[in-house]
Amino acid sequence: MCGIVGYTGADEAQGILIEGLTRLEYRGYDSAGVAIEQDGALDVICRKGKVSGLAHTLAHFDFTGTCGIGHTRWATHGRPSEANAHPHTSCAGDIAVVHNGIIENFAELREELIGRGHVFKSDTDTEVAAHLVEEAYADTGDLQSAVVHAASRLIGAYGLAVVCAHEPGVIVVTRKDSPIVVGRGARGSYVASDIIAMIDAARDVVVLADGQVARLTPEGVAFFDEAGNPLDPPVTHVDWDVDVAEKGGYPDFMLKEIHEQPRVIRDTLAGRLSAGALEIDELDLSPEELDLIDRVYVIACGTSYHAGLIAKNLIEGWARIPCEVEVASEFRYRNPIITPTTLVVAVSQSGETADTLAAIRDARVRGAKVFGITNVVGSPVARESDGVIYTKANKEIAVASTKSFLGQVVSLTLLAMLLAQAKGKLKTSQIRLLFRELADTAEQVERILADDAAVEEAALACKDATSALFIGRGMGAAVSYEGALKLKEISYLHAEAYAAGEMKHGPIALIDEGFPVIAIATKSPVYDKVVSNLQESKARGAMVVAIATEGDEDIRAHADHVIYIPKVRDAFSAITASVPLQLFARAIAVARGCDVDQPRNLAKSVTVE
Ligand code: F6R
Repeated sequence: MCGIVGYTGADEAQGILIEGLTRLEYRGYDSAGVAIEQDGALDVICRKGKVSGLAHTLAHFDFTGTCGIGHTRWATHGRPSEANAHPHTSCAGDIAVVHNGIIENFAELREELIGRGHVFKSDTDTEVAAHLVEEAYADTGDLQSAVVHAASRLIGAYGLAVVCAHEPGVIVVTRKDSPIVVGRGARGSYVASDIIAMIDAARDVVVLADGQVARLTPEGVAFFDEAGNPLDPPVTHVDWDVDVAEKGGYPDFMLKEIHEQPRVIRDTLAGRLSAGALEIDELDLSPEELDLIDRVYVIACGTSYHAGLIAKNLIEGWARIPCEVEVASEFRYRNPIITPTTLVVAVSQSGETADTLAAIRDARVRGAKVFGITNVVGSPVARESDGVIYTKANKEIAVASTKSFLGQVVSLTLLAMLLAQAKGKLKTSQIRLLFRELADTAEQVERILADDAAVEEAALACKDATSALFIGRGMGAAVSYEGALKLKEISYLHAEAYAAGEMKHGPIALIDEGFPVIAIATKSPVYDKVVSNLQESKARGAMVVAIATEGDEDIRAHADHVIYIPKVRDAFSAITASVPLQLFARAIAVARGCDVDQPRNLAKSVTVE
């Protein structure tokens, strides 16, 4: 969702802010703006639409100021417009604020501030922060204490960066439940809501904790608590390749990230098997404690939820522990049965999804042990869980999740094996065999990626459809849900997924001549049942696309298009079967002229409820 950048240093801020905002485009946004301090005043320029539009406008001004803040906004309060874009300013225009998150009590604050004579220029919740800082600054004449005072009035989530015309070169930032990272580079000090915005300039960064305040100047960054006491927070070194933010020769980030998946599998598994036993030290639970676990909830949203559906099959199948998978937005508002021997596994690529975080907090209050599975080091999910497994996908830029999903599936597979090992349900020799086969999926995915001709052909055949049905059973059902989500989010083609056994109970009514049915029909214990569903679909005129196991020639009798994938054990079929569906969705989106990396209305991190 929204993105924050800020810079103060030796160079002109304009270009640095635009570059940072461009790096944040992947998060999804509808407008962008900057405030640049110059000659004792603030120049604020906002535009609806893309950062490139803002850059175009800025080129006419050519501001030379060396301190500024910028923002990409994803509308929550107030429609996307220039007036609602950040930065928002005080009545006098001498204070500018950018904000991520939601200020829940903004309506009361707004009324109160209007009562004291403040004039509002936007419909946003954020603007109250600018006016609150203005009032506090009038009392104290100190930006840092004014920001702390203003923040103390806010209920909700916020990452705030503030500049003031009367304190040249100073940016004050603080946060609650919304990420802020601060870094020092050779040419100045940087702030952003996501490390990627400043990765070229600053690799040693501080991930601000809730309530902490940072004061950036060209000379450096100082950290404080809310009372103004100096702090010395830990520094994190970022060692990603800079090219994580580049397409590396691929036409879009999504394709690049799909092709990174063999590496993700290998990295996620590296170092996990030692002397024949699985080890996930970060979970910080002894085998005895793991053995006590008698119920597992996997909580997540969207694609991460689908990874959870896959894990359910493995946790119940191998460890024989009852496992429920629930979307976090439901889990947090019901009254789940949680005891001290319940394990809650929170899965989140971004590590900042609001519903997942709320569910984690709720589960911990109720006494559950919480494991996070996330891609982002130091993210709220990582910090607020008792233990964490990192998915090693590296930064994912395309909004639609692909390599993170695979990293989640592999991590959850390891967790299922670990639970089975602790419970004595899988012997060391079985663990070793499974681990080897799991590792082999990296090469199998490489083979799938090496030849996408059948995927392209099937995609061309389906691209003009208005709707599609994905079906599968067992692992194939879970994979179908993800396949349908991928297709609808990037191609805007309506797609639904069903456990294939449900066909006769309703969805079969959809099928008529040429209707696309995409089936996960790999060799598995339910293969024959899926084939029956394909026959029923074909008999009604469906155009069947089957994801099938190499060597299965019989399937051709029941499908118009067959996409073969290497033979793997059913437990690992979700890993291999998901990849052609990712390619399929992307190929259709490209054929329909869609923006594959930044689909409309979607945000990479859903930090509000
Ligand atoms: C789909 C997608 C979303 C996310 C969902 C949860 O491609 O990316 O459905 O999976 O918003 O996000 P995280 O995993 O960051 O909690």
